[in-house]
Amino acid sequence: MGASTPRPHSSSRQTLPRLTKKILTFAVYALVPLALLHYLISSLPIADPSHSPLAPHGGNKEQQAGARKQMLKVAPAAARPRCDYSDGEWVRDAAGPRYNGSSCGGTIKDGQNCMAHGRPDKGYLYWRWRPRGHGCALPPFSPGEFLELVRGRHVAFVGDSLARNQCESLVCLLGSEFPAELVLGAGGEGEEERKFRRWEFRSHNATVSVFWSPFLVNGTEKSSAPGGVDHNRLYLDQPDERWAAELPGMDVVVLSIGHWFLHPAMYYERGAVIGCHHCPEPIHPETGFFGVFRLAVKNALREIIARASSSAGRREKKLAVVATFSPAHFDGEWDSPDACARSEPYAPGEKEMRYMDRELWRTEVEEAAAAADEARVRGSAVTVEALQVTKLADMRADGHPGPYMHAGGGGGGGDRVANDCVHWCLPGPIDTWNEILLRMVKRWRQGPP
Ligand SMILES: *[C@@H]1O[C@H](CO)[C@@H](O)[C@H](O)[C@H]1NC(C)=O
Ligand SMILES: *[C@@H]1O[C@H](CO)[C@@H](O)[C@H](O)[C@H]1NC(C)=O
Ligand SMILES: *[C@@H]1O[C@H](CO)[C@@H](O)[C@H](O)[C@H]1NC(C)=O
Repeated sequence: MGASTPRPHSSSRQTLPRLTKKILTFAVYALVPLALLHYLISSLPIADPSHSPLAPHGGNKEQQAGARKQMLKVAPAAARPRCDYSDGEWVRDAAGPRYNGSSCGGTIKDGQNCMAHGRPDKGYLYWRWRPRGHGCALPPFSPGEFLELVRGRHVAFVGDSLARNQCESLVCLLGSEFPAELVLGAGGEGEEERKFRRWEFRSHNATVSVFWSPFLVNGTEKSSAPGGVDHNRLYLDQPDERWAAELPGMDVVVLSIGHWFLHPAMYYERGAVIGCHHCPEPIHPETGFFGVFRLAVKNALREIIARASSSAGRREKKLAVVATFSPAHFDGEWDSPDACARSEPYAPGEKEMRYMDRELWRTEVEEAAAAADEARVRGSAVTVEALQVTKLADMRADGHPGPYMHAGGGGGGGDRVANDCVHWCLPGPIDTWNEILLRMVKRWRQGPP
């Protein structure tokens, strides 16, 4: 589901003391079945990950007891159902995208402008995500509605190139009706200029920006430059100030990371090595990256909550969104021309999700829920939610640039080409992430003060 705010819990705490015994009895007999129904047909409160759709084996006894407890707590909020956008199917849609490779060409990173690069098939542009949850239809993106919701506010994307991909999608969607003015990073078309960009929508005094931070925490990236280090270094206890220092000016923060964690890396905390992956220094044993991935998400969310509490003055109410891992689709050899050459999405159940994609998704849902709890306990004005795109993204192996990351599909027509089966064509499936983001921003703006 797309949500992990603490609202159900806090509202139950506030109202319970005022309930008479009679109402309590009513609550148990009437609201619990209601909540159960709600639980069955639409969404699962992700505060308890054991009944997230990710739980691999349906949960043990302890987890089931936990789930029942959870439902009791959630009961009073059942009147206000929350939508689960994470599960559903892609259905054909004749409407097509709001923008194209030329109308928004300057915003789209070259490698993701599949239209301009001559991708011949267009079918991948004519699909809509239909969530399974009853009454959870996902309306087409409305630029006016989004900008009205963030009037006078700043929406920041923080993370790796998938964060940038989603940011550029949002700018193109909004820009299809309201002019976007690039106010930072207009200096050139180079990779560096694109790492920190900012657009103003003067019509609504709104800002959209992107901050490059592939680990969310401080770190140094591997480099192929002469003399460069061949692995990443992550300092898990140090915030990445390139974005964290700007938190006081951000209202909606979308975190999006993952792919950089697959590379060889050393992990440090307080100056000491705490682990490594494909260990470049063989004296340290391999720890894998799942643990530090969790720490990175946890610490970034902590930082957002901590700084919202300490920054005096400016509006502190914030929405922190964790966009869950976006899977890659290299089906076979990465340099084969058909590495991700599908032309249609997978049907529900047709493709099994990889273990790693599932784990990263689960980790992010759990950390978003834990941070939402922490924010509630601290009385923070930060709402934390998970934007659960992993499953709907996993079904869209047809939506990547593939060989059309280069003009003409790699040129030469040889049997070996570079493919991009990680990022998404713009326009493309990632526009749907922002349709869901709009629903989340709307719920946040309409929520309690
Ligand atoms: C792209 O969109 C613009 C503006 O809507 C339109 O004028 C143009 O014809 C479109 N180009 C293509 C290739 O569809
Ligand atoms: C625009 O928004 C900023 C907050 O982001 C606010 O300080 C400023 O007063 C707003 N300007 C106008 C003209 O509304
Ligand atoms: C990040 O870590 C490096 C290496 O320890 C350090 O030199 C740098 O000052 C840190 N930057 C921030 C913003 O914490």
